[in-house]
Amino acid sequence: MKNPSVVSFLITLLLAAAVCIQGGEPVKDTTGNDMKTDQQYIIQPVNTNGSGDLVPAPPTLDPLCPLGIVQTLFPSIPGIPVSFSIPYAIMETTVSTDDYVNIEFKSTFIACNKFSKFWKVNESSSATEEPLILVGGTPQEPSSWFKIENAGEGAGENTYKLTSFAGPVGTKPGPWFGAPQLVLSYDKAKTLLVKFKKVDNATTTSTPRAEKLGRLRMFPFY
Ligand SMILES: *[C@@H]1O[C@H](CO)[C@@H](O)[C@H](O)[C@H]1NC(C)=O
Ligand SMILES: *[C@@H]1O[C@H](CO)[C@@H](O)[C@H](O)[C@H]1NC(C)=O
Ligand SMILES: *[C@@H]1O[C@H](CO)[C@@H](O)[C@H](O)[C@H]1NC(C)=O
Repeated sequence: MKNPSVVSFLITLLLAAAVCIQGGEPVKDTTGNDMKTDQQYIIQPVNTNGSGDLVPAPPTLDPLCPLGIVQTLFPSIPGIPVSFSIPYAIMETTVSTDDYVNIEFKSTFIACNKFSKFWKVNESSSATEEPLILVGGTPQEPSSWFKIENAGEGAGENTYKLTSFAGPVGTKPGPWFGAPQLVLSYDKAKTLLVKFKKVDNATTTSTPRAEKLGRLRMFPFY
């Protein structure tokens, strides 16, 4: 049997080589700073029918777990921070538009605790539907890999779209009062455009308050 640490070291080398060859541009946050893997960000959709940030929420009424991802309908409800990490990367680094990254909710929300807080595509979806983006992924699996790509001309400064290993991320009206719900969709009209607002240390370190807010956000979900 091969030593797993040797295997992951080789994969790291290969990924590092791939990054060196392609060379994307650094992803920027709302203030124009490079996105870093050791920071937390609130994801703000800019082109949907909702008006708030992204939060986890049950994708259906039954079952409630694993959670999906929706945009809150109310801007007064703060989003839940995420962090971006590069599968197999050892060091903290900046995130580039060529990297596949894992996206992980950083809040200590208590719903669906037996699932991880990594985003993933529901890979068991049938070919005829738009698979949901769910919470409960595995960092090393391609179903949990997302690219952050420039949204292109006219979309506004530091605006990006998310593309999973399996295809582009969009939204459709979800079960919670039609709040936009994240899905994998090739329909360009549904493509989700986002900005990344860095979370200040001041807000991340006040854990008790953050936890309380997290609970309020989940029950009810808005
Ligand atoms: C926004 O709402 C309109 C009308 O309800 C709908 O036609 C459109 O598909 C929605 N857009 C998105 C991105 O969900
Ligand atoms: C994932 O997709 C399958 C197939 O459509 C579906 O039965 C299942 O409910 C989906 N999972 C979630 C959590 O939505
Ligand atoms: C924020 O906190 C991290 C560690 O938690 C620290 O490395 C960083 O320097 C802090 N940044 C600021 C602006 O205080």
